[in-house]
Amino acid sequence: MNFDIKDKSLAAAGTKRILWADKDMPVLAAIRERFAKEKPFTGLRMSCCLHVTAETANLMRTLQAGGAECVLVASNPLSTQDDVAASLVEEFKIPVFAIKGEDNDTYYKHLSAGIAHNPHITMDDGADLVSEILKNHPNLHDQIIGSMEETTTGVIRLKAMAKDGVIKFPVIAVNDVQTKHMFDNRYGTGQSTIDGIIRASDVLLAGKTFVVAGYGWCGRGLADRARGLGANVIVTEINPVKAIEAAMDGFRVMPMVEAAKEADIICTVTGNVNVLDEVHFKVMKDSCYICNSGHFDVEINLKNLTKMATKIDKGVRNFIDGYHMADGRVIYVLGEGRLINLAAAEGHPASVMDMSFATQALSSEYVVKNKETLKNEVYLLPTELEQEIAMTKLTTMGFKLDTLTTEQEKYLTSWEVGT
Ligand code: ADE
Repeated sequence: MNFDIKDKSLAAAGTKRILWADKDMPVLAAIRERFAKEKPFTGLRMSCCLHVTAETANLMRTLQAGGAECVLVASNPLSTQDDVAASLVEEFKIPVFAIKGEDNDTYYKHLSAGIAHNPHITMDDGADLVSEILKNHPNLHDQIIGSMEETTTGVIRLKAMAKDGVIKFPVIAVNDVQTKHMFDNRYGTGQSTIDGIIRASDVLLAGKTFVVAGYGWCGRGLADRARGLGANVIVTEINPVKAIEAAMDGFRVMPMVEAAKEADIICTVTGNVNVLDEVHFKVMKDSCYICNSGHFDVEINLKNLTKMATKIDKGVRNFIDGYHMADGRVIYVLGEGRLINLAAAEGHPASVMDMSFATQALSSEYVVKNKETLKNEVYLLPTELEQEIAMTKLTTMGFKLDTLTTEQEKYLTSWEVGT
């Protein structure tokens, strides 16, 4: 078996971590049990380009139980948990190509290993694997049954591909399924981003001015949790509807160039480039912490910050670099501008990844079951499957649904009754 990981001897620690996460992933465990009996992926090769975490390991075990021959490669150079990678290789016999801190060349070499696996199904977090296949591997286009995408940024890229007519197989926008973004993006990113900022810096949020760039699902979750810890939260937005929502949720809303003057901490979650740039670096206070929780490390213009710096203190603390400005101010960059929740913390907690990865697992089964009818388009998962995931999660959390009476059902489906 080929693989490329940091150190096989970390496997025992990785196994403990995977099993710890597993106890909070009951929906995925139930799917794994069913897959083990029904084997929906027999004879199929799957290449998955995801953050290599304990939660992802449990997804890999689920796909493997369903009969898939899986390979896992990193979807980000800084997000790999090396002990988990070791356990997947040693304990679960799943080839992994991922090393925390890998350079760009190694990242692309690992991506190539995913392609060399000759997949029938792909899974992405950020669309790097699928875009590489669409651009440079036409030999795989007819063989791929379907592809799954985990994150907002990846879905944005896929929609651009669909607009340009270059998609060659069906894709499920897992991110856009309700059981993913309403929970993972809001509660997962919200909590784990704060976790990453605190683990990296040990900052007290109470009384600080915390700027959130972007009020999508991730921004909403982050702003709410920062407020919960006592921060004064400012939101920056380019969409007027989202900006009103932020204002009515009780946050101050203003352009970044104004917010940056007040900020103690700024976190970008927009999915766009250069959200923090020279104009903002110029006005930031001394000791401002800046970080990103969007998928790619493009939201903070580190090239310009580097040009402006008279000195860079690398690693003033784990995951923090200090950029000294000519006027004596120091700007602290957390996690090299990569997603701080996975760089400095452990990503989203298992309990929320349970729903995201149950959605991934059922999406994979759905493309296999419907391969004759799906077209080369971007799809959501049918509502019944969303409901099934939500219902199982609700039950495992110990909550029960209310039910409609016959009279209420009739009322909801009739049109005659009026004022
Ligand atoms: N994305 C965010 N958190 C994650 C986690 N714990 N595992 C995999 N992908 C993630």
